[in-house]
Amino acid sequence: MLLTEEMIQEKVAALAQAIDRDYSGRVPVLVGVLTGATIFMADLIRKLQIPVEMEFMAVSSYGAGTESTGVVRILKDLNSEVTGRDLIIVEDIVDSGLTLAYLQSLLRARDPASLRTCVLLDKAERRETDVALDYIGFTIPNAFVIGYGLDYGGLYRQLPFVGILDPSAI
Ligand code: IMP
Repeated sequence: MLLTEEMIQEKVAALAQAIDRDYSGRVPVLVGVLTGATIFMADLIRKLQIPVEMEFMAVSSYGAGTESTGVVRILKDLNSEVTGRDLIIVEDIVDSGLTLAYLQSLLRARDPASLRTCVLLDKAERRETDVALDYIGFTIPNAFVIGYGLDYGGLYRQLPFVGILDPSAI
């Protein structure tokens, strides 16, 4: 166990408060990154007081293993135009940062009014590229984690807490 359900819920509420404050009077589009960010997105959006829109993108950077391949491919794009909108990327975890760096440049090219990133877990030690994070839940050690949307080989996303996967199970 790395982060309990209670710790996560408290943090999500604090992140929502910060977003409420920063985007008062605006209607940002939250862009969740499938599939890992779904749980975080669902909790975050329900704690926000400001009106928001919700979109999802799917990219592939990981197979069934635990290491980034560095190859990022769009599997599902946004449903709507985002030019002139305030965008907030919602990510479960930033590891090498390759996925996020790619997404940020892709969305920036669509001329949004602003682009920020909200990430629940930051594996800062593992960063391979400089990537801007505006809202960070927890900075975590370099270990493979599961739960609260994060999977290993497609499993464990439903756990309400975040746990470190026993290396012997990898
Ligand atoms: P990055 O491109 O290396 O930053 O990887 C980002 C993506 O890899 C995340 O959106 C996750 O889907 C996945 N990922 C990275 N670390 C973990 C982990 O510890 N557990 C589960 N998935 C992870």
